[in-house]
This record gives sequence, C-alpha cells and structure tokens, in this order.
Amino acid sequence: MKSSDLSALADTIDGLDGKLEDSNRSANRSIYEISPVSRRQVLHGGLVAASASLLAPLSLAHAADSTKALRTGAESVAGQSATPLSQRLGFKAVAAQDRDGLWVPEGYEAQIAFMWGEPIGAKAGSPSWRKDASNNAQEQALQLGMHHDGMHYFPIEGSRHGLLAINHEYTDEGLLHPDGQSAWSAEKVAKSMAAHGVSVIEIANRKGSWQIVNPSKYARRITATTPMSISGPARGHPLMQTRDDPQAVTVLGTVNNCANGFTPWGTYLTCEENFVNYFQGRDKPTGDEARWGIRKREAGFRWYEHEERFVVEKHPNEVHRFGWVVEIDPFDPESPPVKRTALGRAAHEGAWVSLTRDQRVVVYMGEDATFEYIYKFVSADKMKPGGYRANKDLLDRGTLFVARFEANGRGEWIALKHGERGLDASKGFRDQAEVLIRSRQASDFLGATKMDRPEWITVDPNTAYVYCTLTNNSRRGAPGQPGVDAANPRANNSMGHIIRWKEDGDFDGLSFSWDHFVLAGDPANTNAAAKGTIRGDAFGSPDGLWCDPRGVLWIQTDASASEMYFGDYQRLGNNALLAADPATGEVRRFMVGPVNCEVTGITATPDLKTLFVNIQHPGESPGNWSDPQNPARYSNWPNSMPNDRPRSATVIIRKSDGGVIGT
Ligand code: FEO
Ligand code: CA
Ligand code: CA
Repeated sequence: MKSSDLSALADTIDGLDGKLEDSNRSANRSIYEISPVSRRQVLHGGLVAASASLLAPLSLAHAADSTKALRTGAESVAGQSATPLSQRLGFKAVAAQDRDGLWVPEGYEAQIAFMWGEPIGAKAGSPSWRKDASNNAQEQALQLGMHHDGMHYFPIEGSRHGLLAINHEYTDEGLLHPDGQSAWSAEKVAKSMAAHGVSVIEIANRKGSWQIVNPSKYARRITATTPMSISGPARGHPLMQTRDDPQAVTVLGTVNNCANGFTPWGTYLTCEENFVNYFQGRDKPTGDEARWGIRKREAGFRWYEHEERFVVEKHPNEVHRFGWVVEIDPFDPESPPVKRTALGRAAHEGAWVSLTRDQRVVVYMGEDATFEYIYKFVSADKMKPGGYRANKDLLDRGTLFVARFEANGRGEWIALKHGERGLDASKGFRDQAEVLIRSRQASDFLGATKMDRPEWITVDPNTAYVYCTLTNNSRRGAPGQPGVDAANPRANNSMGHIIRWKEDGDFDGLSFSWDHFVLAGDPANTNAAAKGTIRGDAFGSPDGLWCDPRGVLWIQTDASASEMYFGDYQRLGNNALLAADPATGEVRRFMVGPVNCEVTGITATPDLKTLFVNIQHPGESPGNWSDPQNPARYSNWPNSMPNDRPRSATVIIRKSDGGVIGT
C-alpha cells in the first residue's frame, strides 16, 4: 500500500469514468476467461522430489541447506552455468494488459486459491465466506484476512506439503462490511481488526491442486488483537508503558503487515508498515508525532472511535508499540508472536535475513515512506543449531545501522548506537531504547540518505549483491522537499528505481559500493521524469523483489490505483510480475494481474516448481474505499458474477511440463 493512499482518502481523482483503453491484446491465456471451476484446476501435479538442496529455501527440515541459501558470499558462484541467465529464462513474455484478468506465459498454469474469507482450517470452526460480506468478526477471525501481502512457504514434506504464512496488510472497509463504514460500530471495528494481521495455513498439493488442510493443528490467525510480547532493548521502557500494560511487556496485535521475512531457524517475520494510519492524532501533534505523520484524521480506519488505545491524546505511548518487526513460529500456534525492538521502529516494509560467514544474522530493512531510510541489523551472537528454541534471543542483541549513499558510488552503514556520534541525552536520546523507538529521528540526526520509498530487499545468492526497490517519490525535488541526490537521481520520481550494493567484506561490512540496477519507466517515454533504463519489458513502481536460488530476480509492481490512470502508467498496463537477469539487466514480463491490483508476496517450494504470488486489492477504488453498493466497479476478480466483491488471493503458478519456474 502506498503510504499516502489512506491518508489521502479525500484525494479522490476526478474523472475516472472509464477504464484504460483496450490495447495490447495478447494470445496469452486469461485465467479470468476460464470458468471458476477450471480456474482452480492445476493440470500438472509434478510432485518431483526436491532436487535442489543447493540453495533451497528455508525450513526447519533443511537447516543445513538454509545456511547455504543465506551464506551468499561472492565465492558461491560455483555450480552456475556459464550460459547467461537471460538465455535460461525460457518463457515467452506476457504482453502488457489493461483488461481485468490474470495472465501467465504459454506453457504455464495458474491456480487461484486462499482468498480473503476462506476458512483457514481452525479447529474452532470453518465458517464459510458470505459474498455479501455479512460474516461477523468471530467468523472473520477463523477465515483468511483481507489484502494479502508478503508470505512464505515453510516445507513440511518438501515441495508438496507445508505451511504458508500470509500477511494481511490492511482492509478496504467498503468491501469488508455489507454497507461499508455507514452505521460505524464496535462490531465493525472488531471485524476490521480480525481481517488484519497474519494467517498461517497448512497446505498440500493433492492430485495437482493445492488445498488448505482442514482441520489443521497449525492453522492460526494472528490479528490486531492477538497478545504478543515485547522483547529487546525497548521491553519495559517508559516510552512503551501504557495504562493497560504498565510493565511494557505485552502488546495487543500487529497492524499493516506489509512485507515479510523468514529466518534460517524456521520462523516468519511480519513487518508493521503504515501503523500511524490507525491512530487518531492530537489537534496539535508534538514534534515527534508530526515526524511520524501522526495527525488528526477524519477518514480512514476509525478504529479509534471504539478502541480508545488508538487515541493518542489519551494513550500517547500506544503508538510506540507499533512499527516493529514481529517474529512468529509458524509451527507452534500456541507461541506468542514477539516484537523484536532491537531491529528498530520504522514504517517497516519487510525484513530480509542473511548470514555472515561466522553465522551472525544480518537483517536488511526498508522503510517505505517518502524520504525515509534503509537499515540493517547485525546480531551480536551467532546462530546455533536447534531451530527457534536455540535462537529465541538472537534478534534481541545486536547493532542497528542506517545507510548513507555517497555520490562516488560508495556508502556507509552508520550505527544507531546510544552515546556514539552525539546520539545522547543532550540530543534527546536518553538511552538505547529511545534511539530504537525514535529510529527516524536518530537517522535524521546522523545524516542518513533520504530514499525514494524503500520497499523490498533481496540478496542475490550467486553474487552477494543486495537489491532494494525504491518504488517512487513524486515529492522528490518539489518545492520545500529534498532535491535529487546520487542514489535518488530523478525529481518527481513517478516510476521508481532499483538500487543495489555489495558489502565490503561480509554482510556485516560497515561500507559498501553501490549502483543503480535500473531506473523504472518505459525507455521510449518522451517524458524525461518517467523515462527508464529498462532493457526489455517496461514497468513502474517496483515493490516486491526476490532473487531466487537460480539467480532470477523477480520484480513485482505496485502502481497505486490512482497512478494507474496517469498517462505514463497507462502505457505500462496492470501491475505485473517480471523476471530479470541480474547479469544482463534483461527484464521479461511473467505475469499480469487484474485491474487496479497490486502484485506482491512471492515465495516458492524448495524445488522451485511451484511459485506462490499474491494479488492484493484487485479493483481498488482510486483514492478511496470501495463503494459497497458497487463493489465491483473496477474489478470483480476472481469471481464470476458481475457485482461480486473482488477478493485478494494467492496465485499458484506451475509450468505445465512440471519444470522449474522461469525455464
Ligand atoms: Fe505496503 Fe510499502 O507496501
Ligand atoms: Ca507499494
Ligand atoms: Ca510493498
């Protein structure tokens, strides 16, 4: 979600009376054009045993392989074919699309599954989804939440049976309730809170179709009311204490769970992005509150009308208890999630884990807001064998750094350490916990580089390059705003870019070399601000990013619904998933999503033969909640009836011949 989307609900774009012009029709299969029954078929089961222990995605059962996946020093190129990856990308590009539907390349099949409202398989019950959105809060708490975002597959039986943890970033209150926000009530707030958070579902491939195991001992919903513990330096700190939690040890809930991460000891990381949108600010916010964008609201979530803890005037510290990275053990539904404060507080997009050669943990994090920062955390201790039980405190001790990009292509990681570089009481930072709670202010003080909305980060396992999407920043260079710099080189950066760096030495390096992998936007565009450097298929607003073990860089786009109707975006079509060759820069469009959706959340089975991708907010209404009287104004995907509510869902993509995705 674009941080400004919900804060600018009144900012409805005028003149949205039509869809994009019909162009670029392609022969590619449109899932939308297939009946709902056949849509869920998967034609090729392909239960091939995991062959690629090399660099396999992480699981408890594959801890040794996991270490290889994360230990991605430049020495690990062995085993890579000399053939350029772009020649090993065997699929034919999907054309840009502006109609409603979902497109995958010829020779690929997609199954649409795990939609908002489907029962998760909880032992407490399986209330079925009602298309008029009349499920109550208790039912929603046993169903998949809304607006899927980051996710990760944790194998149980390799590539045919595992757990899928899915973030539910936020809700569209116009879709969530039969009559939207009219007659706003505590019950509606409860349903909205229950549709947020995370789902853990057990899934299995049965005869070629992935299904939720129901009932499942693992099935779990984590919502905006789930108790979770606070760990690390800010646990118990006065700035974290509230009336209901005077010890500052337990928070109720997690919100705005955008992207994610996962650890080599088998846990899931969910990240709290635009948490300030849930709080009602004061008439006159403090300087700190203004810096975080906490202000008086008249629209948006309105939880604060029935949940007093979200009223800043009455509970000024509650907002300090959000904006963290939360660790979840997906294999233990009884274990409380843990907010890891050593990783700092930010509008966290996600948290991506790597390992140093001596097994210390490095977590890369971006803060998706205009002119915010890129962080990394380096643990003090080494990972131990023995799964989560042996590593429960690993993310509680270490050093947080913020990035500074210099004009000469070099960069520096600056420690956010109390007592160093003037970060002390005289500058308003009384202790290390306060430095972490006020990471933004500390980064301002330290002179970190203000970026164009850092979103996902990924490490190329073959080259050790670290890539980060900078989705866009139309405020760059505007009057009164920061101007361009070397790392963020375009004013009115409507298309975004992807930056990359290589650490000096190991992943805990204090300095690095950087360059731009690509500036997004159509290279043929005559508008210089939106003209990109892409070789191949054009895209804008890169957001999701994953370098798979083969070295394919998968790029997902999130141009907001409002942006989709601007001229420079109309030429790019609906949001998409693209594959890139990091060596040559070639970009090829792999999947196109429905009208006004965001394509996000990418993960795969260990054999790389099943790819999971999330479609978020299909048919999003530009600049506002959907109209409950006309919920399918822009899209009814993936439903078949014209006025059905569109639903976020997971798309499961496989090659028809059972091969590796992308070949
Ligand atoms: Fe929730 Fe930054 O996308
Ligand atoms: Ca985004
Ligand atoms: Ca995102």
